[in-house]
Amino acid sequence: MPQESVSQTTGELFSAKGFDGFLARAFMTAEGFSPEAVGQRPVIGIANSWSELTPCNAGLRELAAAVKRGVIAAGGFPLEFPTISLSEPYIRPSSLYLRNLMAMDVEEMITSSPIDGVVLLGGCDKTVPAQLMGAYSANRPSLTIAAGPRALGRWGDRELTTDDIWSLSDDHRAGLLSDEDWSCVETCLNDSVGTCNVMGTATTMAIVAEALGMALPGSALLPATSARRRAAAEKTGRQIVERARAGLTPSQVVTREAIWNAIRVTAACGGSTNALLHLAALAGRVGEPLDTGELRECLRGVPLITDVRPAGDYHLSDLDAVGGAPAVIAELGDLFDTTQLAGTDRPWSEIIVHGAPVRTSGAIRSSVSSARTAGLAVVAGTLAPDGAVVKCAGADERLLRHCGPAVVFDGVEDLHDRIDDPNLEVTADSVLVLRGVGPVGGPGMPEVGAIPIPKTLVQAGVRDMVRISDARMSGTSSGTMILHACPEAAVGGPLALVRDGDAVELDVHAGRLDLLVDEHELEARRARLSQAKAPSRGFERLHHEHVLQASEGCDFDFLRSGARV
Ligand code: FES
Ligand code: MG
Repeated sequence: MPQESVSQTTGELFSAKGFDGFLARAFMTAEGFSPEAVGQRPVIGIANSWSELTPCNAGLRELAAAVKRGVIAAGGFPLEFPTISLSEPYIRPSSLYLRNLMAMDVEEMITSSPIDGVVLLGGCDKTVPAQLMGAYSANRPSLTIAAGPRALGRWGDRELTTDDIWSLSDDHRAGLLSDEDWSCVETCLNDSVGTCNVMGTATTMAIVAEALGMALPGSALLPATSARRRAAAEKTGRQIVERARAGLTPSQVVTREAIWNAIRVTAACGGSTNALLHLAALAGRVGEPLDTGELRECLRGVPLITDVRPAGDYHLSDLDAVGGAPAVIAELGDLFDTTQLAGTDRPWSEIIVHGAPVRTSGAIRSSVSSARTAGLAVVAGTLAPDGAVVKCAGADERLLRHCGPAVVFDGVEDLHDRIDDPNLEVTADSVLVLRGVGPVGGPGMPEVGAIPIPKTLVQAGVRDMVRISDARMSGTSSGTMILHACPEAAVGGPLALVRDGDAVELDVHAGRLDLLVDEHELEARRARLSQAKAPSRGFERLHHEHVLQASEGCDFDFLRSGARV
């Protein structure tokens, strides 16, 4: 290990004279580190969300080894530590329910440990946002490196990506796909560790981290098991030592402008609606909360630049091959503020000019030629006074302006019980409404907003309908889903007042979502609403009492405006 002296570091505990320094070094010898190895250099924590319960993150130990190589090469001293890990497939009632707990874990571990900087290893949907939120509030020099997308599956001569499960599941329910074929899909869908291999939440959040200046440019799309990802991890290890030496903290990097940049990149990528929640939460921590008007302003005029699954045809690897996130950013032109810092600690203007090849073909199209604007949009109106979000990329354009009668489901059980009932009164023009699955009602907004099309309609060839809920949906889903309706039904939002047959009018172009029912009638219905029962103990109670609505990113109220000095 090269020895280099550093002035005044948080990790100076390891080189301190006196009893505290003695004790710190003495305990490190238990891990086989000599006193010479631990003193006089920046100490870099590696916050690892590796877990066998999170298959998407199960490759992070290899990445941690590469980060350590980089830290050591740059003269730092790396120390890896575990944090909570949140797995989309396994955490119930939803992974978002525990995102703030993980953010608190990350924040407290960083602030209470003798480290000068930290590399955050995440991947699966909620892990990266939890790390960004926790690191922002801890406010110690930080960089992320995500797990990266997993290998494509192969089923016969067909390539499988994660989003295929939704349409194949519809086909299986409708009897169009045999049980045998369905079993084959199960065994060949996920061919390696790593995150969902489409522009789902995990990849969107890895790109968000890049856009925010919290990950190295070009790192988000490198395949999970590739040598290039390990090299990027090593580079991240080198870079964090520089960032720690410079004392560049998240509050200097993650500005309001950086958040606007990230929102626009998300929309340009046809990214996950979940990213809007996480960025709203981060904006709250930055002290620059986003209201519906600001979000709409931010998204205005942002073209859909990428053509990748689930909203397009190409694979993430195709987008990676034509320059990845930096190429999208370059194509955004004036819509991206290039004075903001990239993960290299230099302004984006230098990366875009010197680094990014912009080849507008295949997975990326020129913003000028992009026929469709706005991968994401916000609507508001009498059915969602504080807004709801729509992923226009992936929706049936004809349904973006639609009026139809509501078919209402109270929670997931009711939905499962009745959606395929042949006696359900529903047509392709109906508007499916699912409520009671918001931040408080879910709790934690489970990803059930992609309400399945009723079996009878699937058999008749219907592939999309207008569907509205206070839930989220998986970033791998697509269709005309109006999500995060706010305020949610459980706290008395208008969604709680809808009845079967009520006319619901959606006009995404005008930014409207309205319940066409007389106000007197709504008042009468409101008087009959009952309050949700509060849990008596534990995290459940903390969540119930402090979680904010979707428009504020579902952060806890007491964690807002929270960068430590
Ligand atoms: Fe983990 Fe999709 S389930 S990234
Ligand atoms: Mg998800």
